[in-house]
Amino acid sequence: MGQPKWGKWKNREEEENLLSSEVRQQIDDWIAKYPPEQKQSAIIPALHIVQAANGGYLTDKLLDAVAEYLEMRPISVYEVATFYSMYELKPIGRHKISVCTNISCQLRGSDEVVAHLRKRLGIGFGETTPDHRFTVKEAECLGACGGAPMMMAGRTYHENLTPAKIDQILEALK
Ligand code: FES
Repeated sequence: MGQPKWGKWKNREEEENLLSSEVRQQIDDWIAKYPPEQKQSAIIPALHIVQAANGGYLTDKLLDAVAEYLEMRPISVYEVATFYSMYELKPIGRHKISVCTNISCQLRGSDEVVAHLRKRLGIGFGETTPDHRFTVKEAECLGACGGAPMMMAGRTYHENLTPAKIDQILEALK
């Protein structure tokens, strides 16, 4: 018996246009790591792959396409995409800066990091600079407490931040 099909994307061609062959190949590489009947286990990397291919954010149509591809109910994909702060559901700047404000970073000066970013970029959490260069987000502990205060720019960790160090990091991100 075939798997049930969920979602609005009844037209396979339409779904495949949303997920390029490169994207599907990357998702397939992840699906292959799990038992055949558990392809939904690839949901986390699949959303990362689709998000990266779409300029850093996910749309409802893309979430539906992922649901179709992984044979999941759309609501289950939406739950994952909205639960984790690493997924974006609206356009963001070219560089996403995630500032950890959890306890270790807070005790070591995350407030100053946030204030300095606000002063330099003129934006706060959840905002994007008018030139679409930066988006700043608040992050939960990113597992680098020993280097607090820290932030992540894209996928790169920056630790033991000072205003001068933040300036250098921003300057390097064109
Ligand atoms: S509290 Fe900031 S990285 Fe852990």
